[in-house]
Amino acid sequence: MKYSFPDGFRLGATGAGWQMEGEADKRPDQKHFPHLMWENDRDAWFEGVGPEVASDFYRRFRTDIPLFRQAGIRQYRFNIDWSRFLDDYEAVTVNERAARYYSDVIDCLLENGIEPALCLEHWELPAALYEKYDGYASRRVQDLYVAYAQEAFRRYGDRVHTWFAFNEPMVIPELCFLNGAWWPHEKNPRRAYAWIHGKVLCTARAARACREILPDARFGAILNSPYIVPRDANNPDDAAAARIADDFFWRPFTDTAVLGRYPENFLRILTDEGLLFDYRDEDARLIAENTVDVLGMNYYQPMRVKAKETPWDESRPFHPSKFYDDYDMPGKRMNPYRGWEIFPKSLYDIGMRIKTEYGNLPWIVSESGMGVQNEARFKGPDGVVQDDYRIDFIAEHLAWLSKAVAEGSNCQGYWLFASLDNCSPYNAFKNRYGLVEVDRAQNLARRLKKSAAWYRAASDANCFEFKEI
Ligand code: BG6
Repeated sequence: MKYSFPDGFRLGATGAGWQMEGEADKRPDQKHFPHLMWENDRDAWFEGVGPEVASDFYRRFRTDIPLFRQAGIRQYRFNIDWSRFLDDYEAVTVNERAARYYSDVIDCLLENGIEPALCLEHWELPAALYEKYDGYASRRVQDLYVAYAQEAFRRYGDRVHTWFAFNEPMVIPELCFLNGAWWPHEKNPRRAYAWIHGKVLCTARAARACREILPDARFGAILNSPYIVPRDANNPDDAAAARIADDFFWRPFTDTAVLGRYPENFLRILTDEGLLFDYRDEDARLIAENTVDVLGMNYYQPMRVKAKETPWDESRPFHPSKFYDDYDMPGKRMNPYRGWEIFPKSLYDIGMRIKTEYGNLPWIVSESGMGVQNEARFKGPDGVVQDDYRIDFIAEHLAWLSKAVAEGSNCQGYWLFASLDNCSPYNAFKNRYGLVEVDRAQNLARRLKKSAAWYRAASDANCFEFKEI
């Protein structure tokens, strides 16, 4: 069956800053938060590998970007590493060498016919601002983030017309401070929700600054959408459990960014738990007045929940799972390497939800992808990774997305994660995501995978063949 997208819909890819760039030309005092995670938790990172070299995109972008073009990437979302971009985070003095690097990447993308979209942070909060002020919980750091954003708008706004505040602003508060999975392994909900509110305020303030400096640009939020699915939508208890998970994991950033307000239930529960952050009247006004123009939704897997069956231990620090249990659906399709469910239909559901609940705002699938371990075993005699599983994964997601677009959802693009194999948090180079291989046994040599040719053909034609969904 043939699936197609309207004119103007683009296939692209994402390049996560620190996960690809590496730390060449950075001073030791220019660390970012993921570097701290690795430095303090090295044994937990796959083979001890961290962000120091990553894919070495910093030194190789001039030869990488033409490969992206060959892989059919027409739009490219990447980000500035705040910790590299400034020499002095408090005085907001730009490191000219870093500024030139980002400028050169933008020019190189444009020369290759690829439209750049810039995100201001993929977790690269400068370590100094984390250590001195506790990061986004601090109003001082929020001021410094906005000052940094203004500098970026002034430098690159002549060539970059789509901007995003953060990549997945929920991830660090959730994994580092709420459930303790990542360093510093805290279960400290007060800190987690203070960070979340800080990032909500930064998003609104950066949107306002972007409009002042670049009135013709569009400004957006990139959110992780663990699309929440109840065990049984017809069971009121399961549905109620899913609504609470939604209030805590989907809606805090989506509602504030698009509707200009927090979900009531989220504020009410945090108040009841004695965990409401410093929420001022002027914050509510700021959020209401500075919503975004475009949403980026990163989607990997659904979050399945059911009504609470296990007792909640009141001596534990608060977690939203006080009100729901995770649901392990029998027979679900898995990506065994990452341990994530594969459920492409969510892209249709996300599209219809944005259409009905969020005013059909323009949106983009800003990440979607499949990480696979030991891809070298799939190499053919010519050394090319025969990643048919990735082609099927992309095609099935695109098929569901095209159905949403056909039914009126205003989705304008699909950006694969990722252009290049890169360094994941903790998993490092274990699972490979790229259309372009990074061969770590051969001095990081690059080679297009089979999926790159498929992606190119789909991108050029804006349509593709796949089985009926
Ligand atoms: C997204 C992040 O959540 O998932 C990326 O924006 C990340 O930074 C991607 O790499 C895939 O997850 P992982 O943990 O396999 O790298």
